[in-house]
Amino acid sequence: MKLLPADGPLRGRVRVPGDKSVAHRALIFGALAEGITEISGLPAGADVASTERVLRALGVAVDRDGSRARVRGGRLDPPASPLDCGNSGTTARLLLGALAGHAAPGRTARLDGDASLRRRPMGRVTGPLARMGARFEGPAERLPLAVRGGPLRGVVHEVPVASAQVRGALLIAGLAAGGRTEVRQPRGCRDHTERLFRAMGVPVEARPLPGRPGWEAVAVAGPARLRGRPLAVPGDPSSAAFLLAAAALVPGSEVTVEGVSLNPTRTGFLAVLRAMGARVEARPGGEAAEPTGTVRVRPGRLRGVDIPPEAVPGLVDELPVLAVLAAVAEGPTRIRGAAELRVKESDRLAAVADLLGALGARVVERPDGLDIAGGARLRGAALRGHGDHRVVLSAAVAALAARGASRIDDAAPAAVSFPEFFAVLDRLRRGGKP
Ligand code: S3P
Repeated sequence: MKLLPADGPLRGRVRVPGDKSVAHRALIFGALAEGITEISGLPAGADVASTERVLRALGVAVDRDGSRARVRGGRLDPPASPLDCGNSGTTARLLLGALAGHAAPGRTARLDGDASLRRRPMGRVTGPLARMGARFEGPAERLPLAVRGGPLRGVVHEVPVASAQVRGALLIAGLAAGGRTEVRQPRGCRDHTERLFRAMGVPVEARPLPGRPGWEAVAVAGPARLRGRPLAVPGDPSSAAFLLAAAALVPGSEVTVEGVSLNPTRTGFLAVLRAMGARVEARPGGEAAEPTGTVRVRPGRLRGVDIPPEAVPGLVDELPVLAVLAAVAEGPTRIRGAAELRVKESDRLAAVADLLGALGARVVERPDGLDIAGGARLRGAALRGHGDHRVVLSAAVAALAARGASRIDDAAPAAVSFPEFFAVLDRLRRGGKP
């Protein structure tokens, strides 16, 4: 697919697809809850469709109508055939927690995914779940794997990675366990599981961990049952980030995204964008289980920044597109403590270094980050998306700022989180025409 440079400013007010993280959870929690959960604002992307497909295969009644769904809670009833999680790590990891505790006792569920998902680490979830009494076939380090339903017990977990997927999986299992399940982790990862549990009637304790600076503990007392209720999924800030980054990059732009999540565990990108010199206004307006609002971005003189390890959980999915901004900003940018990016849908540190290198930027890959020289004059090039939605969308944003057209090997992965991206970008291009 051809990726064209901007030929004028990007202007307009837009909405983005519903937040992927909240949507997966709303569907899965609805499936486990007592009664009916009515969900609005669901995205059309392939990842959330994977969660929906797997839940249906488990016998859950999910009636979907556009961006709305009605989920009837009940037991998960694993079929004999593998459950296909597609490209979605969140689907696989959260469902491992759900199946370990909530599948019909003695029944085995088989989980599988595409080539990318089969490479991703699952031991970080299956290891702690096994300590709670979950039974897996084989080493359970990678998909495909099999988990058998059975009784669980509450356990205190020490999880060295700040992963919301791991935390979510363990808390979901904790709902079915006898006693208290506590997850101790480095601070800062997204808190959607905790917020939705509370909204659905299950208390969650969250506190800083005494004697462990930078760590926090969250805990749930089991057994506990979520209660079905209406849930509104806000706009996905990680999808909005591509449009807002584009606005910061293209002279004369002004892009406003409405109805987007302003959950403080997801706004790290806006803080860095501001620190880089873009003009960013965030106006809160509306709070359900998640705070939402409107964000407007206009360009400013961009300068390089330091992104330290403790900032990474709050912008982990936005680092690829921040790296694009860093490439053209004045002065160097240093990203550290981001080794997790190597085990996302692709090795995102390598993929971003490859992408920016092809466009003519100077980037040095580090084991846990990137050094980006800044000041690059990007030139159109042949780009690789590495089969990763966030790399493809970052490439499209970078191409806007390049001299000459670029070409990407395969833009289809964009549909994993943001199928409407190219149409929305076109609308913003037209909005900028006199
Ligand atoms: C997610 C958590 C993050 C993020 C992913 C979605 C979630 O992964 O990268 O896109 O919904 O919990 P980790 O928790 O593994 O960092």
